[in-house]
Amino acid sequence: MRVALIIPAAGRGERLGVGRPKAFVELAGDSLLGHALRNALASGVIDVVGIAHPRSIDQRDLYVDLMSRISAGQVSGRRRKPAEPVLTIGGATRRESVSAVLAALPGEVDAAVLVHDAARCLAPPDVFTAVAAALAAGADAVVPALPVADTIKEVSGDVVTRTLDRASLRAVQTPQGFGKDVLVRAHAEVAGDVSDDAGMVEQLGLKVHVVPGHPEAFKITHPIDRMLAEAVLAERAGRVR
Ligand code: CTP
Ligand code: MG
Repeated sequence: MRVALIIPAAGRGERLGVGRPKAFVELAGDSLLGHALRNALASGVIDVVGIAHPRSIDQRDLYVDLMSRISAGQVSGRRRKPAEPVLTIGGATRRESVSAVLAALPGEVDAAVLVHDAARCLAPPDVFTAVAAALAAGADAVVPALPVADTIKEVSGDVVTRTLDRASLRAVQTPQGFGKDVLVRAHAEVAGDVSDDAGMVEQLGLKVHVVPGHPEAFKITHPIDRMLAEAVLAERAGRVR
């Protein structure tokens, strides 16, 4: 099974508020996109990488940077050497960005696709491995997820209408994995904006499987998430020394 990794990295990062596209913001000496790619490649399950980037990023510079990372990953002993990266200018929404990369990927028989937010740049390699393994075992769609710690309530305006049963709720992360034909169909047939790709596959009536997520696969959205990410990286550096 050949596996493509799609990284939507074309967002503006408005909530982080540092005045530049979030995937290209630095965290302990590397960009969010760089961290995301390194963790993904370290899983050894990726054959080709496709990235949606903002129009403001120079595509040639990005290509050169990515090629050197892919070669370096090979030197460090991964099982597979991914092909040349596929770079695409992203769309106005995350969904459009994923669609743009999906359309640009080389056509391969039996290919699976992992979609991973650059903003979840610390998701460890094992999560990629687990998602790919579930696809290889025959799942159409797979999401990593964690139980929720907060009580979640439905509200209307400023009034609570319902308390949801926390035991049956999960907070869903990325990488999310799909059979390529399943994801292509979902993007072609499901209308409207969605916050994740698995949501579209659910609308096709297909089963979405769940594997354990990881606390470090949290999404960097607000400034406090960046502080947490820096703490995680400092702790990881200490672990390596
Ligand atoms: N993304 C994208 N194209 C868009 C919007 C988002 O590729 N038009 C990507 C982001 O780069 C990010 C992921 O989708 O990796 C999740 O989006 P989010 O966390 O919302 O990032 P931003 O859209 O950049 O942040 P904000 O919503 O605060 O502007
Ligand atoms: Mg956004």
